[in-house]
Amino acid sequence: MTGATVPDKVSLPYLRARKRRGQPITMLTAYDHPTAVLQDRAGIHIVFVGDSVGTNLLGYASPQQVTMEDMLHHARAVRRGVERALFVVDMPFMSYQISVQKAVHNAGRLVQQAGAEAVKLEGGREILPQIRAIARCGIPVMGHLGFTPQSGSSPNYVYSDRRGTVPRYQGRDGQSAASILDEALRVEQSGAFALVLELVTEEAARAVAERLSIPVIGIGAGRYCDGQVLTCTDVLGYSGLQLRLARAYAGFRQTAADAFRAYREDVEARRFPGEEHLQHMEPDQLASFQALLQDRAQATLPPRD
Ligand code: KIV
Repeated sequence: MTGATVPDKVSLPYLRARKRRGQPITMLTAYDHPTAVLQDRAGIHIVFVGDSVGTNLLGYASPQQVTMEDMLHHARAVRRGVERALFVVDMPFMSYQISVQKAVHNAGRLVQQAGAEAVKLEGGREILPQIRAIARCGIPVMGHLGFTPQSGSSPNYVYSDRRGTVPRYQGRDGQSAASILDEALRVEQSGAFALVLELVTEEAARAVAERLSIPVIGIGAGRYCDGQVLTCTDVLGYSGLQLRLARAYAGFRQTAADAFRAYREDVEARRFPGEEHLQHMEPDQLASFQALLQDRAQATLPPRD
């Protein structure tokens, strides 16, 4: 691990203590095993399989297409790479909205079949019974307020002539900032151990982080949250999108494109494989192989006149 001081295992009390001490919490999405291993070794506190796997990795047009099977498949791969970080998995669209019973059942599947240590649900007052019931079963729940990508409804989006339909920042006026705060308090009271705030004005997010005793993790929610979360694809510069809320720490998209092109050119020009990539026969084995080939060729020669 590089420089970070992370305990042998990140626990919920450890995350709370970081909030109390004013030490930022780090969280990233991971969708596969190698990424999970690298994040865990880098000292990331929360490794998270987001339903953004659908749009970032699976080529879906919307997070609403992500299924429980998709989440279980990717979560199992990530689970095998996580040792120290807290391992959180998103509950996909329609896996918890319909009923409390279904929510508890699906949260249990993520724990039992993919090793999730906590689950995340989007929404406020409409899903408080689900948060309460899942937490009561002993499964830690992370809330998610502000912009909630699973609800494809219009209040989540705004139309701009320049950029088309884009997600809308929440908490731009006093009323909506107060309503986010109220919802956040309800989510905390219902038993959530942490809360993600997505695309929320810095002022509103700060008010939430200051008033909640659970960690508030921001994505596009300014500098005063108790922690930050980004998708691994944005951090690696893999998505090709320049989101205002993210910073790319690498240029994976260009690196990958250059690598694929260079590979094709090398194969076409017979520069790959090179001498260092291959295995020769031992000279005596080669000699006996050549003799064998010659015998066979003679055996199949047409009879002489
Ligand atoms: O699915 C996801 O990537 C998320 C993050 C935005 C927190 O929910």
